[in-house]
Amino acid sequence: MKILVTGGAGYLGCWVTYELLQKGHKVRIFDRMCFGFPEEADWLKNTDVEIIQGDIRHWQEFPDLFNEMDVVVHLAGLANDPTCALCPITAREVNVDSTIELARQSSQKGVKKFIFASTCAVYGKGIGDWLDEDSPTNPISTFSQTKREAEEKLQKLAHEKFSPIIARFSTLFGYSPRMRFDLAINQMVSTAKRQKRIEVRGGGNQWRPFLHVRDCARAISLMCEAQQNEIHNQIFNIGHNSLNKKIIDLAQEIASVVHGTEIDVVRDDEDLRTFRVQFQKFITQFHFQPEYTIQNALQEISDWLERYPHEDPFFDKYINVLQFKKLKKIPVQEGGEPTAPLFIPLAKPVMGRDEEETVIQAMRSGWLTSGHNIHAFEQNFASTVGASEGVAVSSCTAAIHLCLVEAGIKAGDEVITPPITWVSTINTLLNMGVKPVFVDVDPLTYNIDPQQIEEKITEKTKAIIPVDLAGHPCELDEIQKVADKYHLHLIEDAAHALGAMYRSRKIGSIAKRTCFSFYATKNITTIEGGMITLSDTEEAKYLRILATNGLTDTAWDRYGRSAFLRPQELITAGFKYAMSNISASIGMEQIKKLHSFNSVRQRLATRYFYSLSEIDEIILPTVKDYVQHAWHLFIIRINPQKVNKTRDEIAFMLRQENIGTGIHFYGVHLHPYVQQVCGVRPEDCPTATQISNEILSLPLHPLLTEENVQYIVDAIKKVIYYIRHH
Ligand SMILES: Cc1ncc(COP(=O)(O)O)c(C=O)c1O
Repeated sequence: MKILVTGGAGYLGCWVTYELLQKGHKVRIFDRMCFGFPEEADWLKNTDVEIIQGDIRHWQEFPDLFNEMDVVVHLAGLANDPTCALCPITAREVNVDSTIELARQSSQKGVKKFIFASTCAVYGKGIGDWLDEDSPTNPISTFSQTKREAEEKLQKLAHEKFSPIIARFSTLFGYSPRMRFDLAINQMVSTAKRQKRIEVRGGGNQWRPFLHVRDCARAISLMCEAQQNEIHNQIFNIGHNSLNKKIIDLAQEIASVVHGTEIDVVRDDEDLRTFRVQFQKFITQFHFQPEYTIQNALQEISDWLERYPHEDPFFDKYINVLQFKKLKKIPVQEGGEPTAPLFIPLAKPVMGRDEEETVIQAMRSGWLTSGHNIHAFEQNFASTVGASEGVAVSSCTAAIHLCLVEAGIKAGDEVITPPITWVSTINTLLNMGVKPVFVDVDPLTYNIDPQQIEEKITEKTKAIIPVDLAGHPCELDEIQKVADKYHLHLIEDAAHALGAMYRSRKIGSIAKRTCFSFYATKNITTIEGGMITLSDTEEAKYLRILATNGLTDTAWDRYGRSAFLRPQELITAGFKYAMSNISASIGMEQIKKLHSFNSVRQRLATRYFYSLSEIDEIILPTVKDYVQHAWHLFIIRINPQKVNKTRDEIAFMLRQENIGTGIHFYGVHLHPYVQQVCGVRPEDCPTATQISNEILSLPLHPLLTEENVQYIVDAIKKVIYYIRHH
């Protein structure tokens, strides 16, 4: 048979592979090898063994893993209470989610039997005496709970041609080429031998079943060879009735052999797990008798301790939880564990009950596109940013486009803008036949450098579109002065800056026209949406007409209850840019939360400043003392003089640590298409060119917790320190 053994180089896996080879099977091992290669297991070098190094969480990277396999023995996982308690999320991901995925894949690829390494610990605080496979389970640790959860899910995957088999192991003991000293018997023997002492935790009266690791391996090989119908979707307790022991008795048994050993009973550590297990089902069905005793283990471990007199049995690699802690400090790229147990995205919209309810109301009202929410949202928004008018539109891109049209900008004109911005500004200009003229950015704020604007102004220049990058307002006063001097329109792209202030004035109330975005990741969202704020009521009216096809009325005006039906009048070539009533209803709820959203952003940004300040390789954002930042983004810069890796390599390493990052933005002037149509060169905007390859946005959104920020900071430190020392 061909058998895939996950965790095949592990404590039990080594012996399972050995047993299977003895019986003439071919073995494929899938193992992360995070404890290193078990050198004493010569048989793993046998030609009948194929070793694939990998993590079961990333099984997709190994599409041929299950090919030609008859049986899968799934041993890989987080294998004890302390390790799972350290990281319950990872425990669930590995022991449940990945297990189920592996089983699904096995089933699809025609594997017949899937033997799952579970544990008698699922009986937990045992309900009743002599627990058998039909007894109720009562798992009380993350480890046993994840195993039980996987058992239940696995059993549901059973079908005619696919048999999950649940093997509930006793606590194992004895020698293995991949040695463990965090198992009760191995631990007791080694402390008795080395320190003449055995520590008994939890009082010692708790029952546990034990089994030698080699007997367990033999039990697995029996299951591999069994007729499928005999074991289809069955649960087996794996062990022997005679090997149920009270911990205190076990300690005494070992102490009696290792002379001079004292037993130290720690009573305050109340261990609630106690289970005496009945193994008759497996014993009868497989005529199973253990071949190894506790005495054998005593000898094996004594031999090991003599063989390695300088080796500390309580060193990381013999204690799963310590090894796991150590892996957390190593970058994933080097075989370590991700700092964050779950992926932390760069941004995430906050949508709650209020938004759900308002959307339902709007849907039920029948007014999906135009409707009463739009006007209400416009008013609310305008007053929030201190403007007299707000014109709600379908996006910030639409807002900028409308402002350009309303300002009379036309083909052949030039508009000044920074290159560190989102492409939509440039797209809008190009689509209008307008030439974008790029002015380099300030090296501290990455906003347009007002000092450099004047030199780019020509007779054709008609407007300036500065951007409040990341939520830091641009130098509005200085830009306004230049605009006034040359009679240019100022259209502020405040897509990032909702809630920001410039010299004590709110963004949205300063420039003649300010454009905001409500894209999903922005400080507030309407899913898609945008707003133009301004002070002139007539211009606002005209912008609304432009946004509704150039017609004087919307559907709400024409068909609403209080409407007065009259022929519509097309007064200009307009656009279909109006915001929908549903989006506006979401906006109404979101705007109420702006202050609390932005406070969280501010608090998290402060945490970043505090935690990252001592890292020389990173340049933190600059905040001018006369602004209030909206913290849409937290953009750090990788200092190329201090790091020998590129920003992209660092971003990749952070991604492996489960940290999402972003680039805001890669200079628009660097896109070959823009270079071609605008005739711009990288050297025209040297600062923007340089920072394009150095800036990196860290996750920042109101759903980010302090714990998340800690993970992000730890991941950055891990990656940077690793690079520093390699
Ligand atoms: C600086 C900037 N301007 C404009 C926009 C366009 O916004 P929207 O997606 O609402 O059209 C964005 C979008 O991310 C942006 O970041």
